[in-house]
Amino acid sequence: MIDRPLRGSACRWVAHTRGEAVNDDMTSAEMARVGDGLRQQVLRDYEQLEPGETDTWNPVEREGELTYRLSMFYAQAVSLGLSRIPRADLRVLDVGTGNGRSTRSFIDLGLRPEQLTGIDLRPGAIALARRLHPGISFDVYDGERIDAPDGAFNWVQIACVHATIADPEHRLHVARECTRVLEPGGYLFYFDNWVSDWLAGHEVLDPVAIHPELEVVWSSPIRSHQCLPRVRNRMTLIGHDRSFVGKARAFLRPRTRIDRLLHPSHFVMLARRPM
Ligand SMILES: C[S@@+](CC[C@H](N)C(=O)[O-])C[C@H]1O[C@@H](n2cnc3c(N)ncnc32)[C@H](O)[C@@H]1O
Repeated sequence: MIDRPLRGSACRWVAHTRGEAVNDDMTSAEMARVGDGLRQQVLRDYEQLEPGETDTWNPVEREGELTYRLSMFYAQAVSLGLSRIPRADLRVLDVGTGNGRSTRSFIDLGLRPEQLTGIDLRPGAIALARRLHPGISFDVYDGERIDAPDGAFNWVQIACVHATIADPEHRLHVARECTRVLEPGGYLFYFDNWVSDWLAGHEVLDPVAIHPELEVVWSSPIRSHQCLPRVRNRMTLIGHDRSFVGKARAFLRPRTRIDRLLHPSHFVMLARRPM
């Protein structure tokens, strides 16, 4: 671990978390404590939801997951179209890749596997990602410092990760690391639930506040349920979504179809790091 002092917002929020006076330098030892807290919480939650190398959220079995995938794919395609960087020149980091589906979709959008790297806190998810998507680089991340130099990537994606993090200060820590590894002029693609998961506090997520240092290029609420075919939508308008069962109940708020029609489910933001 490099003993690198940190400055600015990272120090302020760590001090705030501990109820300490603001200290302008944060050593890597302090950062390690933050990373460890973050890792323990996410690993504990996922031990219930998707332990080891399981594929609990396979879109074939979960309608909510299927509509999430389709709407995120749409948002990824629009965002790539808005980018000023030629697709062949993109160097993509997917933070919180899970079992790699959110990274793999870039291949369908014309990128080569060697342009893509996915990282995640969960060793089981990374093992599954490597099996499902050979050719893409996947690594376990310890929640502290992303193992890449400043500005190593020109596209950082963070998809449905902040909703799983319980501590708002931890979210800022992850956001700061995403920005650090993004080169000036590079893009951050954020796609996440409108509110955090129930295990993680169920609060509205605000990507602009999480990334105050970036310039927003495009942002929009998303209703991922609109991907559902109309007939199916009408037939199942009332009643709980049957695609979420068992342990996942602790994770998601039980939403009726009417709920889904009235409220956005997700939020997308494409933002650029100033030159
Ligand atoms: C809901 S899944 C989304 C996975 C993937 N991005 C997708 O869209 O399919 C959230 C993932 O974020 C991971 N995660 C949460 N906090 C993280 C962090 N600080 N760093 C890396 N991964 C994290 C979890 O382990 C989990 O695999």
